Amino acid sequence: MRIDIISVLPQLLESPFSDSILKRAQQKGLVEVVLHNLRDFSLDKQKSVDDYAFGGGAGMVMNIEPIDRCIGALKAKRSYDEVIYLTPDGELLNQKISNQLSLKGNLIMLCGHYKGVDERVRQHLITKEISIGDYVLSGGELAAAVLADSIIRLLPGVLNDETSALSDSFQDGLLAPPVYTRPANYNGWHVPEILRSGNLKKIEEWRHEKSIARTQERRPNSMKNYSE
Ligand code: ADE
Repeated sequence: MRIDIISVLPQLLESPFSDSILKRAQQKGLVEVVLHNLRDFSLDKQKSVDDYAFGGGAGMVMNIEPIDRCIGALKAKRSYDEVIYLTPDGELLNQKISNQLSLKGNLIMLCGHYKGVDERVRQHLITKEISIGDYVLSGGELAAAVLADSIIRLLPGVLNDETSALSDSFQDGLLAPPVYTRPANYNGWHVPEILRSGNLKKIEEWRHEKSIARTQERRPNSMKNYSE
């Protein structure tokens, strides 16, 4: 998979991809993440990428031209499955969307700033709009990092068996059960006896019950996605 991220602040995206699982995924050749500075595609001397809104009002709007030139340059080299715009009014991200995107080959992510992008970008250049939650960030960069992380960890070979994505919360419609590690007794706070019993069948049943109880309590709406 290849993910191209277009941003006015590409340096903000460097660290999430330079550590741990996302770094190793790139080193193993399972994903290529390429950051692009939108200003490099501006034709004017000041390298500006935004302008006042037609009709007035506070806040700047990102110009269509540098965005079109950047996306056009990428598309001239390879084909892309989706051109995603990160925006608070996009479709709310969930595990199903990440699963679907993890099956794609090449993705472009466009990070918004200021009052957003000229609407014609959304009408003609973008194929999918995603929000990571009903709150407003200063720009789309952190949202792109969240989206890319949720996709990359699903790619075959990125996680080992111990951290397999299949046992993640939401993957089967249920939240993950509680987990414990040593010591078994910390200041009188005990690990549930069943987890130390060695009875794998009973442990599995216990975990399943806890997953269901936690989902009913915290995400009652996701119970409908759950199939036994
Ligand atoms: N840009 C600003 N806020 C955002 C959000 N919540 N999701 C995606 N992109 C954003």
